[in-house]
Amino acid sequence: MSNTKFYFECRSCGNHIPGFKEWFAEGQKCPKCGKSNIYTVYNTDKQKLKELIAQKTKPDSLWHYFDFLPLENPENIVSDGEGVSPIQQWSFLEKFAKEKHGLNLKVYVNRNDYSPATGTFKDKGGTLIASVLKEQGIKEYVVASTGNTANSVAQYLAKAGISASIFVPQDALHENFVHIGSLGQKVYIVKGDYAYAKKVAADYAKKHGILISLGNLDPLRLESKKTSAFEILRQLGKMPDVYIQAVSGGTAPLAIEKAFHDFGDTGILGKMPKMIFIQGHYCAPQVDAWNNAKAKGFPEGWENEYPIYENPKVFIPTIATGNPGLYPHLARLVKRTNGEYFAINEETTIEVARLVAYEKAVKIGPASAAAILGFFEALKNKAIDNEQTVFINMGEGVRRAISFLEQVSYTTEEITSVADTQRFDREKYRDFVWRPMMEY
Ligand SMILES: Cc1ncc(COP(=O)(O)O)c(C=O)c1O
Ligand SMILES: [Zn+2]
Repeated sequence: MSNTKFYFECRSCGNHIPGFKEWFAEGQKCPKCGKSNIYTVYNTDKQKLKELIAQKTKPDSLWHYFDFLPLENPENIVSDGEGVSPIQQWSFLEKFAKEKHGLNLKVYVNRNDYSPATGTFKDKGGTLIASVLKEQGIKEYVVASTGNTANSVAQYLAKAGISASIFVPQDALHENFVHIGSLGQKVYIVKGDYAYAKKVAADYAKKHGILISLGNLDPLRLESKKTSAFEILRQLGKMPDVYIQAVSGGTAPLAIEKAFHDFGDTGILGKMPKMIFIQGHYCAPQVDAWNNAKAKGFPEGWENEYPIYENPKVFIPTIATGNPGLYPHLARLVKRTNGEYFAINEETTIEVARLVAYEKAVKIGPASAAAILGFFEALKNKAIDNEQTVFINMGEGVRRAISFLEQVSYTTEEITSVADTQRFDREKYRDFVWRPMMEY
């Protein structure tokens, strides 16, 4: 049976490719121009999205949006209830904005740490990759990742009985390796940085003729993460004014842009939020490029100028992409939406994680803490206006960041007898957890 649900359109030459069978057979390149940047186009009536976002009870998974996902037969779905994590209003952040900056904001946080499979927003990609490979009868896959995508792909492919060969840079949080290894998927710790891990993965895929994830523009990643825009609408009823995220390669924001590309003309999504992207200060090539362009008044071709940092030494490896190939694309998106780029101090994420755990009893990973710290940074730089609604796309929980959590933890005391103890009252820590942010 041929695929009538969707097709691909080459972003470079406009050529149409009928589906994944042909796309994979052509080595994930447009047969006409050889480029790999394609958009998925659906034959489904776009108005169907209105019905889907009208559902107020929590769907089982992002497969609620099956009509707008590139899978032909729902029997091939490999799912673990991902992609529909709750979006919560965090009043302590609102209170801070009011008290310190005099702003009335609504602040929402996406609880991707709840994602059942691996506790990150990368599970959206994992479910679609596994389902499409299953549908196409593919038994092997290669991916390079800083850790979270690695885990998600490893787990979903294990569930589908598909072999995953995973290439992770040596500085990735080490808990990642054991999680992948324990699933019986293959993890290679590459001696080098993320860019080098991507190169070795590509060499391996070529050597053995195995399908490899294309990275940030892979339709499997874009299409799955595009559903984040649908979930924002379903849960909040409207798009926020401001979208904040810690970016590495930039898949999630590019996917939001894809949703607007698909539905912009229907008016269903409303207006694209102001995009605020956060990077860690030890490896912030996009922020550096942006600040440089801004200082020069965005001269002709400004977006094509960006630095490449080799072997960056960082505290948050999960978001460290030293060679941001998609910066031109992301930076244009930031400019178009009147957004901003900010670097945050990576070690300060420890203090942010303490504050969040204290106020919400939620343990967040370092990349999530970077996004929350980005909110404080945006406030400091007056990048958020009064009465705006802010959405923070917080990507991960703490499941594979125990080494980070050890640094977040602050109450442990060794004792020999009750004489060494004092009656405990958690209120006494309030000032300790708030002070770094009050002085920020
Ligand atoms: C928790 C978390 N946050 C943010 C990012 C950045 O994602 P991207 O730039 O691909 O949208 C990643 C990527 O690995 C991540 O794992
Ligand atoms: Zn083409």
